[in-house]
Amino acid sequence: MAPQPSLMPSLRQGTPNASSEGGPTHVAIIMDGNGRWAKAKGLPRSLGHQAGVAALKTIVEAAPALGIDRMTVFGFSTENWRRPAGEVSELMKLLKFYVRSDLERLRRAGVRVHILGRRTGLPADILETIDQAEQSTAANSRFHLQVAFNYGGQADIIDAARAFAEAVKAGQAEPGDLTEDNFQAYLSTANGPPPDLIIRTSGERRLSNFLLWEAAYAEFVFQDVLWPDYGPADLKAAIEEFRTRERRYGGTDVNDALATG
Ligand code: IPE
Ligand code: IPE
Ligand code: MG
Repeated sequence: MAPQPSLMPSLRQGTPNASSEGGPTHVAIIMDGNGRWAKAKGLPRSLGHQAGVAALKTIVEAAPALGIDRMTVFGFSTENWRRPAGEVSELMKLLKFYVRSDLERLRRAGVRVHILGRRTGLPADILETIDQAEQSTAANSRFHLQVAFNYGGQADIIDAARAFAEAVKAGQAEPGDLTEDNFQAYLSTANGPPPDLIIRTSGERRLSNFLLWEAAYAEFVFQDVLWPDYGPADLKAAIEEFRTRERRYGGTDVNDALATG
């Protein structure tokens, strides 16, 4: 694949304070805490994951009114295969359930669904579900919902590097052609801009291999709410926190720049 024109705003051209008046337009969420939510209620972990899907539906519905036009959610990581087989198959089943129960509504609401992550290793029925979700919403552009499934940030960078190496091998590119801007065209997030805000629920404060490349200048908000309990008011609180941040992209504060001339 030849590199596509970059859709990622150059970090070096970032405007200081650009987001303090508004945004975020792209919010990414590490939906964590389903297991602890279930445990606290004496329920099996599978019921925690089911409650997590219900929370996801509510949040996706609430997002456009909060000024968001793209959401990226972490549904299953390349490391989640380490979980017991029963839990892995429950998580696979839930992707199917989510698509089956919500796809028509999403399609009618103008949502375009993208599934990020490696296809290899996924069962045939899941691949079918992914194709159905992507194909039936391909004409939409009002809101982008990206579900990271069998996704790892490192795996995605490796796959991108391999794709570039293949382009070099095929004589379509030179090693020196590679830049920060055009490398992202090889990532599974190539279709849109990087997240402004990354939220992680449940109190954990780590990325767990989510959007490593794309997180370069994202703002982080960690919330102590377990994902099944997460609602629009929590998302609103995260957005309000984001709006207090000053994004500098390595530059200086606008007022400091004026003061120093
Ligand atoms: C997040 O909840 C969902 C997935 C990782 C698929 P967890 O299942 O990680 O919940 P905790 O962290 O055990 O509470
Ligand atoms: C990250 O959560 C993956 C998803 C939310 C899908 P984990 O619960 O798997 O992350 P760790 O193991 O606590 O780092
Ligand atoms: Mg977890």
